[in-house]
Amino acid sequence: MKPQVFITRELFDDVIAKILQYYEVEVWDRYQAPPYETLLKKVKEVDALVSLLADKIDCNLLKNASKLKIVAQLAVGYDNIDVECATKLGIYVTNTPGVLTEATAEFTWALILATTRRAVEADHFVRFGEWFRLRTAWHPKMLLGMELKGKTLGIIGLGRIGSRVAEIGVKGFGMKVIYYDLTRNPQLEAEIGAVYKDLHDVLKEADVVSVHVPLTPETKHLINESRLKLMKSSAVLINTSRGGVVDTNALVKALNEGWIAGAGLDVFEEEPLPQNHPLTAFKNVVLAPHIASATYEARHGMAEIVADNLIDFYEGKVPRTLVNKEVVNVRKPGFK
Ligand code: GLV
Repeated sequence: MKPQVFITRELFDDVIAKILQYYEVEVWDRYQAPPYETLLKKVKEVDALVSLLADKIDCNLLKNASKLKIVAQLAVGYDNIDVECATKLGIYVTNTPGVLTEATAEFTWALILATTRRAVEADHFVRFGEWFRLRTAWHPKMLLGMELKGKTLGIIGLGRIGSRVAEIGVKGFGMKVIYYDLTRNPQLEAEIGAVYKDLHDVLKEADVVSVHVPLTPETKHLINESRLKLMKSSAVLINTSRGGVVDTNALVKALNEGWIAGAGLDVFEEEPLPQNHPLTAFKNVVLAPHIASATYEARHGMAEIVADNLIDFYEGKVPRTLVNKEVVNVRKPGFK
């Protein structure tokens, strides 16, 4: 009998067909995530789970899943999974790095441009009649924004995505890049002239601050009240990483009191963001529903990596994008 996999949301048909060659597949076909209680029941019955970032895979759930051997997450981030607990239980955890770098970096730029050039505000200005009401076709001071050339881009977290955002900033827009990370990247420093600074100085000097760190206990509320206060009042904050990296209440305060000029946000501490959330009241904030990786190329690529990881594991090989590498010492890959 084939091992069973539960997939918590619809994937692409060709990818499902590939998985079906090795696994019995059950797909949760609703738009909404399966409720925690449902997931708890489902994992009891299956050998493998394909999860999304909105699925809470905690230790309680993993301990409940007596047959479960692998959690293949369809995302690069995996802060929704208790990886340490999975490792102890001998459960493999995989993610989908690489294929979404370009899409996420491009969308980060969409947010940078939309925020600095007030693109959404401009759309509303036309769409909801303000332009027509003002009876002026063109005014030298209408909807002024910030030019990027020669400005400083501050990257917090120079991993795959942060590096690509930095590269586009230098090569595409003629910006200077400063960055903070736990480790330095001499190669990118040489290639694009990125300058390493401590977090304090990046926040203080950058005109655009873009956050690209994973959410961990160490990075939770990394961008807090005192750090927002360091930013220039003309600077914007862009976040396409995880909502929890920014203290939302502090950000609302910063926007209310004009400590910063605006924000472009794809991720939130609470997702979906409630319709009447304070962040929705600011004209100088551009909001998106966690879609930075939402290109066909990236999402299909992510699904393919999920399938490849499941197949690697089925064949007794270490899955190609294994997160918890130490798990191989607890249990060999495979279902035998
Ligand atoms: C999306 O947020 C991801 O982590 O892939």
